[in-house]
Amino acid sequence: MVKTESLYANFITQRESDHTRRFLTPVTHKNAHLIDSNNQKYINFSSNDYLGLSQHPALIQRSQEWVGQYGAGSAASRLVTGNIAPFEAIEDKIAQFKSKEAALIMVSGFQANSSILPALFDTKALGAEPLVFSDKLNHASMHLGCAAAGIKQIRFRHNDAAHLGELLEKHKDNEAPKFILTESVYSMDGDIAPIDEISALSKKYDCLFICDEAHATGVLGKSGSGIAYKADIVIGTFSKAFGSFGAYVACSQTIKDYLINKCSGLIYATALPPSVLGSIDAALDFVATMDEERNQLQNTAQYFRDQITKIGFDCGASQTQIVPLIIGSSDEALKLAAQLKNAGFWATAIRPPTVPKGSARIRFAFSAAHTQEDVQNLLESLSNFQIKKAA
Ligand SMILES: Cc1ncc(COP(=O)(O)O)c(C=O)c1O
Repeated sequence: MVKTESLYANFITQRESDHTRRFLTPVTHKNAHLIDSNNQKYINFSSNDYLGLSQHPALIQRSQEWVGQYGAGSAASRLVTGNIAPFEAIEDKIAQFKSKEAALIMVSGFQANSSILPALFDTKALGAEPLVFSDKLNHASMHLGCAAAGIKQIRFRHNDAAHLGELLEKHKDNEAPKFILTESVYSMDGDIAPIDEISALSKKYDCLFICDEAHATGVLGKSGSGIAYKADIVIGTFSKAFGSFGAYVACSQTIKDYLINKCSGLIYATALPPSVLGSIDAALDFVATMDEERNQLQNTAQYFRDQITKIGFDCGASQTQIVPLIIGSSDEALKLAAQLKNAGFWATAIRPPTVPKGSARIRFAFSAAHTQEDVQNLLESLSNFQIKKAA
């Protein structure tokens, strides 16, 4: 092994001793809530397929139809080989769904954040280095976008609008363009940002408010359209409640035109393939009609939270379909995940650096595809386990 490679091996060894090493486990997805691994079946409580659309026949069918009609790949960036008709049609639907003037399809949520943010924070275009006020628990892709922009984030305590207000007040005389950067539903905690208060601060201090709705799109708000309609720019994915892949940014026409000219993730990346566009298009037709599934999903999560806190678990500030059981140490979280697996439940331990040190957890993600029996069986198993509270 060359010397440099041995440094990577050291990193893995360190991860092993911290109980934070990650592995790829072979599985087959049987349906929206069932996983098969090594010929064992598991009820899947880790998926972001919140509405169970990933296996929906209508999404699969339109995906197949569009492969037939447009081909397997899109061959280049939309700026190079042109914009096939589905892009514009879907972007119009998204803009309408999100009540914004315009929308732009991106390759993935991760790629959207990591390339849209550097474009928006471009010092040359803005004439000064911007001030970016960001929630401490923002997703890794947003941190990457800020790092790629070369800006220093001004980070406020998680979901703490008062702290954000203090920081904005402190910098009020700074003439540089200002941005506020948050999620609406936090991916590892399932709590909700105080959007109204943040939006009011954004207006008061003349900021541009950017919000990632990855875990709210399709799940919360009117017809599943999300809850950050007061944000100026909303970024979201089709990889979660939409059951597919890809992402969008919903914004003004000016921002869309700017991104077409400046966003590296759009300019230098091959566009999404027609098969994926087909499933997004079909999901867009369905999601708005799924109020019943959305209610069922939130009722299931609320029932789980009520029961699990009664038996002594800590599920933080969860208010949505994402319910963490905060354990504390990575080792204990891994042990609980293994016990759950033995009992037939797929519920992955989430450990640092994905979550802050000392807050390793099992992140339960509910889906409209879960039955009452699935949830009841899970609760029964958890009530038998020894590990209960965060350290
Ligand atoms: C808040 C947030 N933003 C962005 C992403 C990335 O989205 P995608 O999986 O579509 O790349 C995730 C993924 O988990 C997320 O939780």
